[in-house]
Amino acid sequence: MIDLFAVTGPLLRCLTPERAHTTTIRLLATGLAPAKAGNDDPILAQRLWGLSFANPVGMAAGFDKNAEVINPLLGLGFGFVEIGTVTPRPQPGNPQPRCFRLPAREALINRYGFNSEGLEAVAQRLNAWRHRRRRRAGVVGSNLGRNKESSDAVHDYVAGVYALGPISDYLVINVSSPNTPGLRALQDREPLTELLGRVLEARADLCEKRPPPLLLKIAPDLTSEDLATISEVSLSVGIDGLIVSNTTITRPDDVTGLPAATETGGLSGRPVFQLSTRVLAEIYKHTRGKLPLIGVGGIASPEDAYAKIRAGASLIQLYTALVYQGPRLIHDIKTRLPELIKRDGFKTITEAVGADAR
Ligand SMILES: Cc1cc2nc3c(=O)[nH]c(=O)nc-3n(C[C@H](O)[C@H](O)[C@H](O)COP(=O)(O)O)c2cc1C
Repeated sequence: MIDLFAVTGPLLRCLTPERAHTTTIRLLATGLAPAKAGNDDPILAQRLWGLSFANPVGMAAGFDKNAEVINPLLGLGFGFVEIGTVTPRPQPGNPQPRCFRLPAREALINRYGFNSEGLEAVAQRLNAWRHRRRRRAGVVGSNLGRNKESSDAVHDYVAGVYALGPISDYLVINVSSPNTPGLRALQDREPLTELLGRVLEARADLCEKRPPPLLLKIAPDLTSEDLATISEVSLSVGIDGLIVSNTTITRPDDVTGLPAATETGGLSGRPVFQLSTRVLAEIYKHTRGKLPLIGVGGIASPEDAYAKIRAGASLIQLYTALVYQGPRLIHDIKTRLPELIKRDGFKTITEAVGADAR
């Protein structure tokens, strides 16, 4: 297999992180990246929420915020792609620079603050992709947010459900980005119950034959009590799953002292692995395996991906490790996971989900 990243990776790292990202999106949009999709080991296949996942490896939110490169990402071998976060109205996000590399720990700190082209532009693009004749197979979810200046957060999420619900395979309510003031307070019991109740009503109002499953994406910086509350509310209002987790505002010991570690924003990559996996395991125990979970945060190897699955994740997502290792990681995970699953005596990936909690 030609590893294009061996050439482009070092060149991209000469650019600022944000310029490297926009350049990568442009390169992918040319459609010239070699396709590596297809022929996933059948042991990796799952049906969740009535959707078929050929493999459990997804592109996390924040990479393709505006639905520009869905087909090329599926072509890299992802089983699913999450676009967004999308805000109702277009907004520029925070001033630059707003993304920083911590290469010694294969980590990033970002404070983009939901730069988004807005629901109308993104819905148009996603719709165009849906109607493409030569679109690749794969699941595409939409991650919804609120505008910074909005005085009514619930209204913003409801607008997202109406605009993207009919054309998304799943929807994510993102209440966990650290870069929009007040956003994470929506994880508290009362605001969360109200928000989820209202978005579920909006979803029912869509009158879709198969309404999109609704997932909640949470932060890793929550207490055990918060996690118990979120699990209880999620089960009682009847959402369909959780994504664990977003970036952390904490600075674990292994990043303190590194240049850029003091930048404001959410930390992602290797240093968030332990924290986010612990939170994932706790949520799995609280929800007793009743809600499928997506594990994300610091996955940088097939063994990390498998640890998330054993902790309770049915699916996993990647972002930061791709910046340092390139798309080869997707292939490596898909090749090694079946070996790890069989080594432990499981016949399907589903049997391995939550194995460490049993
Ligand atoms: C540059 C950057 C931008 C991100 N933007 C978003 C976003 O818009 N919405 C969201 O839900 N998560 C966003 N995330 C969080 C990721 O989806 C993921 O939850 C987090 O980075 C942990 O995974 P990782 O360690 O594999 O990167 C972003 C992450 C990064 C690094």
